[in-house]
Amino acid sequence: MTDIHAIIAQMTLEEKAALCTGASAWTTTPVKRLNLPELFVSDGPHGIRRVADIHALTSKSLPATCFPTASSLAATWDGDLLFEMGQALAEEAIALGVDVILGPGVNMKRSPLCGRNFEYFSEDPYQAGAMAASLIKGIQSKGVGTSLKHYAANNQEFERFSISAEVDERALREIYLPAFETAVTQAKPWTVMCSYNKINGTYGSEHTQLLTDILKKEWGFEGFVVSDWGAVHDRVTALQAGLDLEMPGPKQTRVNAVIEAVRNGELDEAVLDEAARRIVRVVCLAAQTPKGGDFDAAAHHALARKVAAEGMVLLKNNGLLPLQNPQHIAVIGRAAQQAHFQGGGSSHINPTQVDVPFSELQKMAENAELSFAAGYPEDNSRDQALIDEAVAISQAADVALLYIALPSFKESEGYDRADLDLTEQQVALIQAVTAVQPNTVVILNNGAPVVMGKWLDGAAAVLEAWMMGQAGGGAIADVLFGRVNPSGKLTETYPHRLTDTPAYLNFPGENDVVRYGEGLFIGYRYYDAREVPVLFPFGYGLSYTTFVYSNLQVSADNFKDVDGVTVTVDITNTGLAAGKEVVQVYVHDQASRLVRPYKELKGFAKVSLQPGETKTISIPLNFRAFAYYDPAYRQWITEDGQFDILVGASAADIRAQATVTLQSTLQLPSILHKESTIRHWFNDPAGKLILQPMFTELTSNGGLFSADNVGDEAIGMDTLSFLMDLPLRSFLHFQESSLTQPADDIADMLLEQALGVKQ
Ligand code: BGC
Repeated sequence: MTDIHAIIAQMTLEEKAALCTGASAWTTTPVKRLNLPELFVSDGPHGIRRVADIHALTSKSLPATCFPTASSLAATWDGDLLFEMGQALAEEAIALGVDVILGPGVNMKRSPLCGRNFEYFSEDPYQAGAMAASLIKGIQSKGVGTSLKHYAANNQEFERFSISAEVDERALREIYLPAFETAVTQAKPWTVMCSYNKINGTYGSEHTQLLTDILKKEWGFEGFVVSDWGAVHDRVTALQAGLDLEMPGPKQTRVNAVIEAVRNGELDEAVLDEAARRIVRVVCLAAQTPKGGDFDAAAHHALARKVAAEGMVLLKNNGLLPLQNPQHIAVIGRAAQQAHFQGGGSSHINPTQVDVPFSELQKMAENAELSFAAGYPEDNSRDQALIDEAVAISQAADVALLYIALPSFKESEGYDRADLDLTEQQVALIQAVTAVQPNTVVILNNGAPVVMGKWLDGAAAVLEAWMMGQAGGGAIADVLFGRVNPSGKLTETYPHRLTDTPAYLNFPGENDVVRYGEGLFIGYRYYDAREVPVLFPFGYGLSYTTFVYSNLQVSADNFKDVDGVTVTVDITNTGLAAGKEVVQVYVHDQASRLVRPYKELKGFAKVSLQPGETKTISIPLNFRAFAYYDPAYRQWITEDGQFDILVGASAADIRAQATVTLQSTLQLPSILHKESTIRHWFNDPAGKLILQPMFTELTSNGGLFSADNVGDEAIGMDTLSFLMDLPLRSFLHFQESSLTQPADDIADMLLEQALGVKQ
């Protein structure tokens, strides 16, 4: 093992400062004198964007396999497959001389409008964390690093470099951080990339609480924190906050600023040493993986096809799919000839080859006659002639396949969507084609939900194919013709209307601030709470077969939080085709002191079944499956009580449930304070013990608030209920005539006793 401390000890101040800022757009500064090489990083994460010119941010990259983007990956719900894809990515990174892949991104899909949702996994932190952890483990199992991004609360593109995301502590802990936490603690990414935006007023690159206290100290992150490209404002402040590497470089002024700050005592050299140590550690780790050689482009293309097919979500099917030997197929839509398989921005891959969807159909439907019409123009204009042409070929066919790609002027890194609509031309096209051809399948290429109210009824089937990667054209054919039975399920709710969405009133913010006013309630948590009907719920997706859930069992009816429970359930394939089901386990807390979402995903499994086959799946639920973050205690807590375990095929399709009783083992400190209300006193175990006798005495002894007044009709209130929200101190003041000591003295004494200061 390399002695990292020895290397740091030999480095000069100048060398350490230089190491903490990039040498080029994509490399760190080597220390040749000490044989410390550079570290080469490249974008991804659904392929390797290894730019040829390391001093250019956007120069053309070397060919690499373009796998489907994260929305599609998440919809597979298949950790093993993502692990396998991660290994393939690592093989390509090695061949292309790349040490660290800049991804994956685990930001929550707070609003479907976020332009980068195609690069993110889910509206649910548990799902996103699980997917990211599998991908990272796969990549790193081959000795290539990852950069988990963008930490944190980077949930929109509007003013992404500067806006302050105002998120309360609980929403941060329960919604915006857990996917990072899971990935960090389970998969140990080599690096984490901070976000551009501010979080509660402080830049992600300068956020001590996020970078040092939570990431490094609480979660035990051992790698280095890299800035998003250009996210550093004050280099010294960032370093002090825990931002180890600034990218891109070179930036001699930054290096000088660090040197100067150490020399004038503003920056403790130990802080610089720690950043250098973290970087050197990863550089040495990367150096253990020899680079070069080839990768198996054909095998990776085949894997990309498998992943794409696995992620496709069948949203509607009136029985038309899988296609049964159609003789005349009208293939409509520009995207059938020019596959729309990835998104714009830093994740843009130069593919090794691209499947043309039309040609892939032709290969599979050898005996069928295929006709083609483009249907819509490349830009946002209306062109009735294109629609007329599509209608004409649809009328003459047995079936119409409509390839509808959301254009990149609507969806990309760098800007958010203004609406959830397809283009006007695309909507008119679908309406016109479905009016003449009942056997129409709409195939969608997009990274985030679109609304369908104007055309869904007319379509016989709808397949969400996502930004499906370079082999997606073949994968669509696989699903349409039943070579693959679709098993993807949504990880982002499809709403009926934009106005129904959780962040609608708080997106994208104004005056440099975006308030996360919906708090914990994003995605299905919101739709559950508000009972808002949705188009397609979280976790939803159809199959060519059917599944029955039975024999739900939980390992214990009563259990301690630290022990957790295991949920088992039998899944049977009751249809005629082999298929896969994504079984989801949600937990519902029957009663809690703080408000909680109705239910939350806490486990899932993907199971593959032959017709007639039954398998028992088993899903463990640990402490965190039942806990919530209580800002009053600044920790995850459990409460005694009953929880419903809901097992379902989607968030809106619960097939079996059981109730269990949890016993909390937590010994929580008292959080009573001077202004605590009677209710707080009674909710606090120590407080209740101390207050109860005196309270009973005082309320039965006459005085302003006595039990005689309970349910006082004269003033139309229930006195005891009324008292609950009165601070104890005020209550004592009201009762002072019956007290033997001043009210304030008694209040102080009770508080001291409750807090255990004086027993
Ligand atoms: C993006 C990152 C990306 C970096 C390097 C930034 O603009 O936000 O996701 O890794 O550029 O290209």
